Amino acid sequence: MKESQLSTPTVSKLVRDMEESATLKMASMARELKAQGLDIIDLSLGEPDFDTPHHIKEAAKIALDEGYTKYTPVNGLVELRQAIVDKLAREYNLQYSLNEIVVSNGAKQSVYNLCRALLDPGDEVILPAPYWVSYDGIVKMVGATPVVIPSSIDDDFKCSPEAIEAGITERTKFILYSSPCNPSGSVLNLEELEALAAMLRRHPHVYVISDEIYQHINFTNHHYTIAALEGMKDRTVIINGMAKGYAMTGWRLGYTAGPEWIAKACTKIQGQVTSGATSFGQKAAAVGLAADHGPTHDMVKAFKSRRDLIIRLLEEIPLLRVNRPQGAFYIFPDVSGYFGKTSATGYHVKDADDMSLFLLSEAHVSTVSGVAFGNPDCIRLSYATSDAKIKDAAQRIAEALSTLA
Ligand SMILES: Cc1ncc(COP(=O)(O)O)c(C=O)c1O
Repeated sequence: MKESQLSTPTVSKLVRDMEESATLKMASMARELKAQGLDIIDLSLGEPDFDTPHHIKEAAKIALDEGYTKYTPVNGLVELRQAIVDKLAREYNLQYSLNEIVVSNGAKQSVYNLCRALLDPGDEVILPAPYWVSYDGIVKMVGATPVVIPSSIDDDFKCSPEAIEAGITERTKFILYSSPCNPSGSVLNLEELEALAAMLRRHPHVYVISDEIYQHINFTNHHYTIAALEGMKDRTVIINGMAKGYAMTGWRLGYTAGPEWIAKACTKIQGQVTSGATSFGQKAAAVGLAADHGPTHDMVKAFKSRRDLIIRLLEEIPLLRVNRPQGAFYIFPDVSGYFGKTSATGYHVKDADDMSLFLLSEAHVSTVSGVAFGNPDCIRLSYATSDAKIKDAAQRIAEALSTLA
């Protein structure tokens, strides 16, 4: 074939249509500016600034020395799945079998597996907004349709069961949410979960994917799962993982607990895509789940005090409306009071995307626009950083916003 006959190489339509992860994009912009020598405070990424607890790292080292360097079963080492089964029994009195657990390369892969396993093109997924940015991206990636249910700071970013019910159709496959929530930090309490379950009982074809990755980072001192409510276990898949509560983001360990037919389907997909998660990491995770949670509790104490600090500082800024997150390590202020204003440097802030870029370029603070999370009035700030950086960032934000008129 002559060179002229070769068609221009193109990536797939899927990739062309796909949006880059907004959080990763913002973090990479912040890194670029840092590399140019600018002093950027990065409040855009979602990972604890703590190190993995010592006993978990030691367990990984021991596992390496013991020869845990080979492939594991696709759905995870029995030892880790047993630790997950024990945890779920201990915490919620829920009895799962080993075959109902699937360990994956991060909870993000768990979300992907579930969407691939359960959704056909044209199926619908209810996403109460604000939602974790990857839900929307992954649902679309598999050809299904996100049905976004809006909420606002006035409802503490929680959608009523009635609003969710109005979004249910015959094509609805499941509802997907995180509690504690990324990005709002809102936590669904028992009463709210009961009300959601009561509504869902009227719609038996709708499953629930309950992402509980921030389970431990919860300032209400109690985490509830909808799976433990009457009649819900057989139609719920819990997603959880080691990343947030154990400061193990780089280890890539997530898992699901749910009906065996779903676990089997996820295992089949994972078997073609990645196989099992890292062997020695799984051994260490089993230790982490079963051992004393002292380091996690210390971390949560620090997050709580930082949350109080950032709330106090942001509340002093005139047109910001500040929520009071009960979990995770994000705050999601409503910045719409500044929309339509222009800075002395000529920066016109029309929406949350502009606000996020304005704060990066003028205050040198990176945040993520709420647009990516399905809420165009807010921006997300992660307070998984030191008190000093939180204070500095809040001051820079206050100064930059004061130039908008
Ligand atoms: C709500 C939510 N679910 C899942 C994940 C992914 O976790 P992992 O790092 O285990 O893939 C994140 C990470 O930011 C998250 O915020």
